[in-house]
Amino acid sequence: MKDIKILSIETSCDETAASVIQNGNEVLSNIVVSQIESHKRFGGVVPEVASRHHVESITVVIEEAMKEANLAPSDLDAVAVTYGPGLIGALLIGLNAAKAFAFAYDLPLIPVHHIAGHIYANQLEHELQFPLVALIVSGGHTELIKMEQHLDFTVLGETRDDAVGEAYDKVARVLGLSYPGGPEIDRLAKEGEDTFNFPRAFLNKDSFDFSFSGLKSAVINTLHNERQKNNPINEANVARSFQESVIDVLTEKTIDAIKTEGVKELIVAGGVAANSGLRTRFENLSKEHDFNLYIPALKYCTDNAAMIGAVAYELYQKKHFADLDLNGQNYIDI
Ligand code: KG4
Ligand code: ZN
Repeated sequence: MKDIKILSIETSCDETAASVIQNGNEVLSNIVVSQIESHKRFGGVVPEVASRHHVESITVVIEEAMKEANLAPSDLDAVAVTYGPGLIGALLIGLNAAKAFAFAYDLPLIPVHHIAGHIYANQLEHELQFPLVALIVSGGHTELIKMEQHLDFTVLGETRDDAVGEAYDKVARVLGLSYPGGPEIDRLAKEGEDTFNFPRAFLNKDSFDFSFSGLKSAVINTLHNERQKNNPINEANVARSFQESVIDVLTEKTIDAIKTEGVKELIVAGGVAANSGLRTRFENLSKEHDFNLYIPALKYCTDNAAMIGAVAYELYQKKHFADLDLNGQNYIDI
C-alpha cells in the first residue's frame, strides 16, 4: 500500500506548528515555534500579538517541516489544518497558509478540529482502542469525550466557565509566577501541602460538567485577604491546595464517566495533562480501578501539528476534504 504523507499546520493559539505525518502515526517532522516569551510580560496570550507572530513564523515553520521530512511538495498527499476552536486571528494565519499550499500544489485540504487533535496525539504512540473516554484539559478546554470508533465523538461533559489551564494561569499570575502558570504551580505544589482545603465543585452528581471559576476566585480571594492583613503566605501550600482540588474533581468525574459508560480505555490529553500530580494520581487510579491509561509524551500534550496530522490521516481515508472557502471558527462542536 502506498504511504500517505500529510503536511499539517496548527496555529490556534500561541504555537506556530507544522509537521509531516506518514500513515497517521510516523512523525517525519514536528516543528513548533512557541511565542511564550512574547506573552510572558502580559501574563497571558494577547490575541493580536499571537496573530502577528504567526504571520512572521508560518512560512519558515512549514519550510522547516518539509526540510526535516526531506520531502518536496509533490511527495505529499494532502495538507491538513486546524480550523477551530481557537483565537480567530491566529487560526486564519494557518488556514490561509494551508489553503495557499493546497491550491499551489493541487493537494486536498483537510479540516481538523483542535480537540480531536489532542485526543489523536495518543495515536502517534499507540493504536487507539475503542470504546474510550478522553479527558481533554488545556488552556482553552476541559472536556470529557466518549469515542465508540474513529472520528466518532460524543461530549459527556465540559466546563461551564473557566478551562482548567485558564484557572492555573490566573492563579499563577496572582501568585506572581510567570506565564504559562501550569508548570510553575506544578513545580511549587511539590514543596507544599493541602492546608487550605479549597472548594471542590462536583456540581450535580449525574453531570459530567466541570466548573473552575469558584475555585479560582476562592484562591485569589484568600491571597488578597491574607495580603491585606499582612499575614505571611505559604505559597507552596496555596499551589498544592489549588492543585489537589483540581485533581480531585478531574479524577472523580473521569472515573465516574468511565464506570457509567462501561469503558476500559482512558486518554488524558491537552496541556494540563503534562501536570505531574495529575499524571501520578491517574496512574494510581488505573491500577485501583483496572483501566488502561494513555497520556501522550509531554511534547505531544501541548499544542503541536503532529497531532493534527494524526486526525487528518483518518479523515483522508474517508475523503473528508474541505473547499478553499474553509473558514476559521473560534467555537465549534467536536
Ligand atoms: O494544550 P495547550 O498547549 O494549549 C491549549 O490548547 O490551550 O495547553 C496550555 C495550558 C496552559 O494553561 C498551561 O498553563 C497548561 O496547559 N499546562 C500545565 C502544565 N503544563 C502546561 N498545567 C498544569 N501543569 C503543567 N505541568
Ligand atoms: Zn490545545
